[in-house]
Amino acid sequence: MRLDGKVAVITGAASGIGFGLAKQAASRGMNLVLADVEESALRDARTQLSENGATALAFPTDVRQAAEVEALATAAFDEFGSVDLLCNNAGVNLTVSRPVWEFSLADWEWVTGVNMWGVIHGLQAFLPRMMEQTAKSHILNTSSSAGLISGPGLAIYKLTKHAILSLSETMYHDLKGADSQVGVSVFCPGLVNTRIRDASRNRPAPLGVERPRSTEQEVVEKMLRESSGLSGPEAAEIALTSVESGRFYIFTDPSTVESAHQRLTGIEAGVPPSAGATFTAPPGTETPSSNE
Ligand SMILES: NC(=O)c1ccc[n+]([C@@H]2O[C@H](COP(=O)([O-])OP(=O)(O)OC[C@H]3O[C@@H](n4cnc5c(N)ncnc54)[C@H](O)[C@@H]3O)[C@@H](O)[C@H]2O)c1
Repeated sequence: MRLDGKVAVITGAASGIGFGLAKQAASRGMNLVLADVEESALRDARTQLSENGATALAFPTDVRQAAEVEALATAAFDEFGSVDLLCNNAGVNLTVSRPVWEFSLADWEWVTGVNMWGVIHGLQAFLPRMMEQTAKSHILNTSSSAGLISGPGLAIYKLTKHAILSLSETMYHDLKGADSQVGVSVFCPGLVNTRIRDASRNRPAPLGVERPRSTEQEVVEKMLRESSGLSGPEAAEIALTSVESGRFYIFTDPSTVESAHQRLTGIEAGVPPSAGATFTAPPGTETPSSNE
């Protein structure tokens, strides 16, 4: 699908991959609707993009709230008359990787609220209106390499990313069955250097704070902070080029597919999941796994 000169709505647009998507969309002459819960960063992002010649509307939005995403959709259609590309990108992760029984209910509520309900709210608010458009349009859902592979720890994040992968696959079939002009792709980045390791900056106060980390976890986090990854704009360019060329599954790291193969081999053999799948964790969290 051609993107140049069209309209893009991007959630989580103030930082990292979302800001990268905005920059790369702007470089294609797209009009932008930028949504983010972090209002000061959102203002800065809009200013930077506008100074470089982009037409951008900034709309503060907490994607956990259906009414706010509905208002975002109304603002986008009122401003530009159509939405050609919806990037359901906003996402958070916990700072500390723990076994599943150690998370608080508030941890579950926050991460599923942003990563899973945020995408659901995006679809509820935008998809019916996009389906009414006669021109082609597209939805890019951000999952992760963690949407295909499950090593130890970080269960909540992985649950949400697996959910987005399955949702996107199902949507693909549903839209095709309805002969819709709306397409869908699922974006499964590996490691990207962003602010996701500081995601707790946007954790709402009523959902409390994470329990402190152990010294061992600090060592792991330092190592991951120092490891390399793509920049937000580099990852975003892979995503947009892939949308343009009609890819459904979009990866930034070839090891994701290798790990998915390993997983499938294990599924065929009926053996317990291997901790050795080379899952590249989002920065700042996952404990490294070794082959069993
Ligand atoms: N960085 C990685 O290595 C990596 C890998 C795979 C997938 N991802 C996914 O990429 C997406 C973008 O993350 P990132 O790495 O750019 O992180 P980031 O923290 O740099 O950017 C995320 C943006 O989402 C916003 N956000 C957080 N909560 C929100 C809410 N409730 N409503 C609206 N906006 C909200 C933040 O303010 C921030 O601007 C996420 O879905 C993440 O899971 C990241």
